[in-house]
Amino acid sequence: MKKFVIGNFKMNTTPLQFSSYLDEFLPRIKECKTNIIFCIPATHFHVAKSRFDATNIKFGAQNISCEESGAFTGEISSSMVKECGADYTLIGHSETRRRFKETLESLNQKIIRALAVNLKVILCIGETKYERSTRKTKLSLKRQLDSALKGLYENELKNIIIAYEPIWSIGTGKTPNVKEIETTVADIRAIISDSFTQRSADKINILYGGSINESNFAQFVKIKGINGLLVGGACLNPKSFANICR
Ligand code: 13P
Repeated sequence: MKKFVIGNFKMNTTPLQFSSYLDEFLPRIKECKTNIIFCIPATHFHVAKSRFDATNIKFGAQNISCEESGAFTGEISSSMVKECGADYTLIGHSETRRRFKETLESLNQKIIRALAVNLKVILCIGETKYERSTRKTKLSLKRQLDSALKGLYENELKNIIIAYEPIWSIGTGKTPNVKEIETTVADIRAIISDSFTQRSADKINILYGGSINESNFAQFVKIKGINGLLVGGACLNPKSFANICR
């Protein structure tokens, strides 16, 4: 089965710098069969659209509004993102949850808005250090998943990718060990199975994210139940990211 590798650029590079990045990146992944997705600032969409046209690479937003349109200064709607050629959007990254004080209800609304315009969702979930140390990881992930996926039909899950990103692992150089990730991914599938069916739990794509780099990525891809990676810092280096994708 083809694996996903998603690069989350966060607020890095200008559109011109992104174009130069692609000059280095694209020649390195010519024969690559991985599903590669770039989650980039909306200011970079026109670059992505023109440069990815002749490739299998997809791009997406890092967030969307929970509103459809109207007086929401600074926000970007799902249909705006879709019309610019994006196929995906991240939803619920721990950085947007925290900075924009996103509520569980607003994240559910964002998912509904995304799916309504055929944008696929990369739903980020993860536990805090405190939750892990007090053995509340599964409980926390269940709360995040149940609220995010509330009201969805089972057949809509095919348009959702779950990115498991422990909050304490993002940008810290710390990662859970292989066994911990395997257990948590099994827990995520059990939660999906309880709310939907075993079949959808088996089929849904689950990625790992958090402090992935060129030297540690291989162990994560091999973990049972993991369908790919969500890479932050390490995707900003075109050589490293191409190596991970390959
Ligand atoms: P890092 O890979 O820099 O830890 O970031 C992970 C992340 O937040 C991807 O969405």
